[in-house]
Amino acid sequence: CGIMGYIGYRQAQPILINGLKKLEYRGYDSAGIAICDGESIAVRKAKGRIDALVQKTEQSGLSGSIGIGHTRWATHGRPSDENSHPHLDATNKFSIVHNGIIENYLEIKQELIEQGVAFRSETDTEVIAHLLAREYAGDLVAAVRAVAGKIRGAFALGVMSEYEPDKLVAVRVASPLIIGVGENENFIGSDIPAILEHTRDVYVLEDGDLAVLTSDSVRVMSLLTDDPVKRELVRIDWDKEQAEKDGYAHYMEKEIHEQPRALRNTMTGRIDETGQKVIFPNLQLSSRSVKQIEKIYIVACGTAYHAGLIGKHVIESLAQIPVEVDVASEFRYRRPLFAKNTLTIAVSQSGETADTLAAMREAKRNGSAVLAITNVVGSSIAREADDVITTNAGPEIAVASTKAYTSQLIAFYLWGMYLAQQKATMAPQEIAALLGKLKELPEQVAEILTHAKQLRHFAESIKDERQLFFIGRGIDFAVSMEGSLKLKEISYIHSEAYAAGELKHGTLALIEEGTRVIALSTQDALHEKMISNITEVKARGANVLGITHEDHLDLHRTVDDVCLIPKTDALLSPVLSVIPLQLIAYYTSVVLGNDVDRPRNLAKSVTVE
Ligand code: G6P
Repeated sequence: CGIMGYIGYRQAQPILINGLKKLEYRGYDSAGIAICDGESIAVRKAKGRIDALVQKTEQSGLSGSIGIGHTRWATHGRPSDENSHPHLDATNKFSIVHNGIIENYLEIKQELIEQGVAFRSETDTEVIAHLLAREYAGDLVAAVRAVAGKIRGAFALGVMSEYEPDKLVAVRVASPLIIGVGENENFIGSDIPAILEHTRDVYVLEDGDLAVLTSDSVRVMSLLTDDPVKRELVRIDWDKEQAEKDGYAHYMEKEIHEQPRALRNTMTGRIDETGQKVIFPNLQLSSRSVKQIEKIYIVACGTAYHAGLIGKHVIESLAQIPVEVDVASEFRYRRPLFAKNTLTIAVSQSGETADTLAAMREAKRNGSAVLAITNVVGSSIAREADDVITTNAGPEIAVASTKAYTSQLIAFYLWGMYLAQQKATMAPQEIAALLGKLKELPEQVAEILTHAKQLRHFAESIKDERQLFFIGRGIDFAVSMEGSLKLKEISYIHSEAYAAGELKHGTLALIEEGTRVIALSTQDALHEKMISNITEVKARGANVLGITHEDHLDLHRTVDDVCLIPKTDALLSPVLSVIPLQLIAYYTSVVLGNDVDRPRNLAKSVTVE
């Protein structure tokens, strides 16, 4: 969910609505705003995209210079007008927006119902509004504190009350929240793009912070006491263009095309001047403890998990350290074993994914050192990790991740080589040679992108399929999984990624005349085996697109179509082979007329477990 708040001298409505539009990637089941005109609070909310809310406010707008807004990704209670935020107490004196989950809301709700409170929604959030009304005794901050002491779970809150119409209260417990500082106006936001057009000066709230905003002041204190806490005012240097579409039809298209730059940015400052060595200047882990690492866990979700699968290949082959990759939501419940000298790597574009954060905390509790690979400086995962490799890919807005994935791969290559340097598992000249290849990747990606439009024809040809298969071996299998996920997320066509050698043990039963298969073959050592597997599906009538490089032109003889990518080191090939897969997913979604950047049922940043 996304939260926005405004207090100042301008009309709040357009500011809140524009902010919510920028936060729509966090959820878009419904949206709402509450505005106080100094006398009373009025609310408008609507099921559906923000445009539905815009229509409502066009019919009857709200006037006032203080307000809160919300765009929702449903957890408790289906998407509906009533379940949309902001929520009010029974007297309409308190209004709140919430991101997160209140775990003990059922007990509280029961207690409140017994006290005669009538609920208007099915949400967990509404209990907070009623509790505020019950606890209020002339001091809004004290009431918020009392309520925060009663609720359990994750919550970022924006609170407004008719009794104190000169302030907004913001709270952060586990769910992210920032405060934007302007001139005679201040803002609350779940993320930076929401407030970027108004100010670049922000406080990133930390867990357990409470902030009180008036038009001309921001006070950050602890949720428990009145003691002020010092938070650094951070200046955001993203340019506005970076957060907007830049002439492309969709954010996803723009982000696919930004990959050459994103990859360079991930490398910047991490290769020494001679080009021979990887450096991580700010690493907290001592060189000694790096040398002692015996086991690595990688935890992540979705696309970041797929980057982790590549990370395993990279680290195992370069640094010879055993690596296990886990879906973060599974990791903490399977009682993983932590040997001494284990490193856990949490991979997350947003740095806010609750499942990944929880897995990482579990690792820490078990004495593991934690390294984060994330795109968002100052995010929860970045702050809680012992060390951070920021991917520096710039803001990623499209729900389907592209440039974040490839920049995570670059981070893994650099980290794998760094480990290899420390452990002396690679000769210096091997590292220098691999770095040379790594530096060629941005240019090679750019080359693939110059032919991007050709894949639109392929997309046209699969748009009516009910299912597709992606097959590959070794590292190509890991890339296939990402290609398949991309297609599912935004085209809604079912697809499955399969280890090509495993097909014959079951899944081959699904291949029939005309079944579409995308086969990756970038690994010289596995190419012949891949040809055999492709022949197996061809023999059952499959129509195959092969993705390979120029050394394997013989593939033409086996498949129906070939998509050629430049040649690089086998380990680096995912950065190139995933590009056509991203483009296929993108164009398929476009030709189907889907909402490419905001696919149904998904959200960019999922801050609930
Ligand atoms: C959500 C998004 C996915 C993303 C995953 C992990 O489910 O829809 O695209 O891969 O979260 O996000 P993270 O920010 O942790 O990389």
